Amino acid sequence: MGVTVSAAAVAEWRTVRQVRLRALAADPAAFGSTLARELAFDDDLWRERVATGRTFLARRDGAVVGIASFYAEPGREDERQLVGMWVAPEARGSGVAAALVGVVRRAAAAEGATRLTLFVAEGNEPARRLYERLGFQPTGEVLELTSDPCRGQERYALALA
Ligand SMILES: CC(C)(COP(=O)(O)OP(=O)(O)OC[C@H]1O[C@@H](n2cnc3c(N)ncnc32)[C@H](O)[C@@H]1OP(=O)(O)O)[C@@H](O)C(=O)NCCC(=O)NCCS
Repeated sequence: MGVTVSAAAVAEWRTVRQVRLRALAADPAAFGSTLARELAFDDDLWRERVATGRTFLARRDGAVVGIASFYAEPGREDERQLVGMWVAPEARGSGVAAALVGVVRRAAAAEGATRLTLFVAEGNEPARRLYERLGFQPTGEVLELTSDPCRGQERYALALA
């Protein structure tokens, strides 16, 4: 497969911005945020996002082919939430997402988290199948998708060793 995953360095914030904006443009239905919202972010906000050390880039032959991040949701201290998972169309179906989840799992566990959660938008069957294959289970918690109030998103969870 030849894919490497590493935490994005602060100096790579422009790369992170480019990939994230590409993801929002290509697959708007998959995300809670929108391209219009993030196009308005200033450079400092992108730097701050990357400075957490919780954004990961997947590369193949030097090209960025995937991205994923995680964060600590307020009030859920024992958990981390995986967000912004995206694999470039030219690299799909080759396990890039699984490689990203593997690295995020380890990083979340290293922070002491015991559970990794994420939200999947209603109708996003490839993502739902991927997460179930990786051991995530639906929790039954459904929230409105902020980018499209007509659709829901369901929380999935995975216990971390
Ligand atoms: C969901 C996503 C992250 C999966 O990434 P991936 O690295 O392709 O994951 P996998 O390699 O496990 O393949 C996932 C599925 O895509 C299928 N696939 C194969 N080739 C493909 C291609 N060229 N294009 C699209 N899907 C392909 C795989 O066979 C697999 O199908 P299955 O679930 O029926 O087995 C990716 O499709 C994506 O970025 N989608 C848009 C954004 C998104 O939905 N993010 C998740 C938000 S919760």
